[in-house]
Amino acid sequence: MTASTDLTLTTNRRIKVAESDELADGKSKIIHLEGRSLALFRINNEYYAIANHCLHRGGPLGEGEVSGHEVTCPWHGWKFNLVDGSFSMVPTLKVKTFKVSETPEGVFIEE
Ligand code: FES
Repeated sequence: MTASTDLTLTTNRRIKVAESDELADGKSKIIHLEGRSLALFRINNEYYAIANHCLHRGGPLGEGEVSGHEVTCPWHGWKFNLVDGSFSMVPTLKVKTFKVSETPEGVFIEE
């Protein structure tokens, strides 16, 4: 009998999603990536990325109005925190967030 071990390989990928000077402060950009839709925001010169699908009915969060670190879904007004993806009324409900880094070469999503 041969011993075996199940290994889970974790691959960290960096995917360029914007040029470093592409987004003005307070602006957002919708990114289509391998069949997914993400929303990238620049707030106070920090970047945040979340899934571009509202938990209510899939509204495009990247088109929502931003106030502080909160985006309001343009369809029916649900609000989500851009730092942790939490829904304002039920913070345990969260949209997916993505780690973002910026270098002189651009802005990258890491997963
Ligand atoms: S789809 Fe976002 S609040 Fe309804």
